[in-house]
Amino acid sequence: MKPHHIREVLISAETIAQRVDELVRDMQAACRSDNFVMIGILRGSFIFLADLARDLYQHGVRPRIDFLTIESYGSGTESSGEVRVVKDIRMDVNSADVMLVDDILDTGRTLSFATQHLLQKGARSVKTVALLDKPSRRVIPFEADFVGFTVPDEFVVGYGLDYDSFYRELPYIAKVTFTT
Ligand code: IMP
Ligand code: MG
Repeated sequence: MKPHHIREVLISAETIAQRVDELVRDMQAACRSDNFVMIGILRGSFIFLADLARDLYQHGVRPRIDFLTIESYGSGTESSGEVRVVKDIRMDVNSADVMLVDDILDTGRTLSFATQHLLQKGARSVKTVALLDKPSRRVIPFEADFVGFTVPDEFVVGYGLDYDSFYRELPYIAKVTFTT
């Protein structure tokens, strides 16, 4: 890891919780299917998905839940440009209405690839929710159906997002400042 520090909180835990609650109010109509599946993209989505699913529960949503491990970044902060399935979902999504959950929409490669992947597996519909969106970084034209926060082009960690597998446990989103 490059020398860095994590001092600047970009989005506090309280602000995240409020926004998750609002998002769920917006999303719940899209989760009304009798064959509703939430699929988290690992590893970054695990905390966000857990919060979404528990909030959706309060609105009577009863999803099946699975995870898809996709790799787009190597270690560090640079994307390789390549996306591949490292671990596929286990459940049958044929005819299911899927909500794909990711931590951050950056170049767009991961969510556009994952959407196609699930449609190929027979999903009836695929919607997407990303906690964060960095629109300035887009390489592939892709917009999520639901977005928590739009953020500037800074490398961020916490609430599931990592730098070299560290910092996922932070309850807030913080900016990584690289020092030389
Ligand atoms: P995309 O395929 O470029 O849209 O990248 C999405 C993936 O890149 C996310 O699931 C993250 O794992 C990773 N990523 C992009 N930006 C950041 C960041 O600022 N911090 C941590 N991970 C990031
Ligand atoms: Mg990730």
